[in-house]
Amino acid sequence: MDLTARFAGKTVLVTGGGSGIGAATARRLAAEGAHLLVTDIDEEAAQRVAAALPDATPLRLDITDRAAIDRLIGGLPALHALVNNALVPFVDDPDENWRRQLDGTLLGTVHCARAALPHLAATRGAIVTIGSVNAEVSFGDHAYSAAKAALGSYTRTLAAEVAPLGVRVNQINPGTVATPARSGREKGLAALADRAYPLGRVGTPDDIAAAVAFLASADAAWITATTLRVDGGLLGVNRHFREILDGG
Ligand SMILES: NC(=O)c1ccc[n+]([C@@H]2O[C@H](COP(=O)([O-])OP(=O)(O)OC[C@H]3O[C@@H](n4cnc5c(N)ncnc54)[C@H](O)[C@@H]3O)[C@@H](O)[C@H]2O)c1
Repeated sequence: MDLTARFAGKTVLVTGGGSGIGAATARRLAAEGAHLLVTDIDEEAAQRVAAALPDATPLRLDITDRAAIDRLIGGLPALHALVNNALVPFVDDPDENWRRQLDGTLLGTVHCARAALPHLAATRGAIVTIGSVNAEVSFGDHAYSAAKAALGSYTRTLAAEVAPLGVRVNQINPGTVATPARSGREKGLAALADRAYPLGRVGTPDDIAAAVAFLASADAAWITATTLRVDGGLLGVNRHFREILDGG
C-alpha cells in the first residue's frame, strides 16, 4: 500500500481549518494527496492555510449557520471525509457561553454531519469529530465539556445508524495541544508538560492530525463508533498515586 497517497483523488472538508489542529489536519491530508476544502468562520485564515497547499479551496463557513452549512456542504459535487474541528470561542457570560457551545460545538457538528451524509453514503466515506478530554474528565468549563461529551454519544449513535451505508463515524479526544487557542499560556503549558503529562510534553497539532488521517483513511476501514484519546497518557495514568501512597 502506498501510504503517501491514502487520500489521492479524495475530497476532505475541515471545519475551523484556518488555525491550530484544523490547519495541521489540512496540511497532513493534503500531503497524503487529498483535495482540501479548508473552511473557517475567518475566511482570511482559511485562505492563508489553503494557499500553502497543493490542492485546496478556502471557504467561509460558520458552523452556527445552518443555512450556510446546508448550502455549502449540500452543494458539493462529492465528499469523502468530514472533519468536525471548529472551536467556538468561550465567552464570560455563562448563559451566552452555554448557547454558543450547544449551538456551535454540538449542533454545528450535527448539522455538518447531516449535510455531509448523502455525499459520504455515495463515497462510503468517514466523519472524524474532534472532541476533548473534557468530554471524559472534569477540567473546567461546564458548557464546553457538556457539549464535547454529548458529541461522544452522537458519534456512537450516528455510527450505528450509518454503518449499513458503509459510512464510519469516529471521534478523537485530544489532551492539551499547543495551538493559538492556548496562546499566552506558555508557562502553564510547560508546567503541565512537566507535572501532568506522562510523556513529558503537551500535544502538537500534528499529533492530532496524524490520528485524524488514520481514522479518516482506509487503514481504519473496520473502525467505527469509537473515541480515540490522543492525550500523551493524561487520562490513562495517575502520575501521583504511587508517589502519594509510597511517600505519604
Ligand atoms: N488546543 C487544545 O488544547 C485542545 C484540546 C482538546 C480539544 N481541542 C479541540 O480541537 C479543536 C481545534 O482547536 P484548536 O486548539 O486548534 O483551536 P484554534 O483556536 O487554533 O482554531 C479554531 C478555529 O475555529 C475557527 N472557528 C471559531 N468559531 C467558528 C465557527 N463558528 N465556525 C467555523 N469556524 C470557527 C477559528 O476561526 C479558528 O480558525 C476544537 O474542537 C477544540 O475543542 C483542542
